[in-house]
Amino acid sequence: MAAGDGMAIEHGAIEHGTGLADAFARDPIPAAAGIGLRHTHYGDFLNGRPATAWIEVHSENYLCPGGPRLATLEAIRRHYPLSCHGVGLSLGSAEGLDTAHLALLRSLFDRFEPGLVSEHVSWSTTGGDYLNDLLPLPYTEEALDTLVRNIGQAQDALGRSILIENPSSYVTFAESAIPEWEFCAEAARRSGCGLLLDVNNIHVSAFNHGYDAQDFIDAVPGELVGEIHIAGHADTEWDGRPVLIDDHGSTVKEAVWDLLDAALARIGPKPVLMEWDLDLPPLDTLLGEAARAQAALDRLGAEPRILDDVA
Ligand SMILES: [Fe+2]
Repeated sequence: MAAGDGMAIEHGAIEHGTGLADAFARDPIPAAAGIGLRHTHYGDFLNGRPATAWIEVHSENYLCPGGPRLATLEAIRRHYPLSCHGVGLSLGSAEGLDTAHLALLRSLFDRFEPGLVSEHVSWSTTGGDYLNDLLPLPYTEEALDTLVRNIGQAQDALGRSILIENPSSYVTFAESAIPEWEFCAEAARRSGCGLLLDVNNIHVSAFNHGYDAQDFIDAVPGELVGEIHIAGHADTEWDGRPVLIDDHGSTVKEAVWDLLDAALARIGPKPVLMEWDLDLPPLDTLLGEAARAQAALDRLGAEPRILDDVA
């Protein structure tokens, strides 16, 4: 339960109203395994020090001026490097970005100094309305120009480089003329941002659209990758056809672990984040998945290192 929804928070563990502009250094995210911080597990983090190298939150969950949710994040942030992962910028929107939203994000990042900031290669707003989904873009030169322009605006407004994440998708556009991996990489090169490689999304989209996930891995410019995501997905069917749904509601499937190994072997050690958003399990389950990701990193034989040369 979220702190703001009535979770009992130990007073004394949280300092309210602190001027945190000077409190946090921008800790780089190590090339190690981390987990997403969700309100279900606030208590675990407030009452202990779960063994994770870093944490990631959804930026839009913290766009508030104060209150228990921000205070909880402040308390936890003191002990972990933080990554902020956005879901609401609508970077692919032809209508441009919401400057008020950007200002709120800037305020959040100035306060918490995340080591990484990321968003999606998708769109989700139209006419000022937010659609509760990350919708795919047509992979065309026109859409690429729009995405690059919006990333530039976002990076200028936020005062930092961002990472952009390859999406999971269930439909494609007849107009798409550029492979997804080229579209994302070219957007990063032109805008100066980095890439967040979600290997579960690659697996889901490759299955749904009938391409080889390894083709994506083989084409990724590893020097631009600043983070990797892993997550669970659901096997289902639609209209009589098998479909994979990126629901972040289970442990990582074996095919995705294999893809993680393939990605790490090709591009080297990177921060790896275990995402779980639906039907959250006990924290130990997430930590177990993160431990398996760490084992994959350890098999590379490299010491965890700070990535300061991305984006
Ligand atoms: Fe992801």
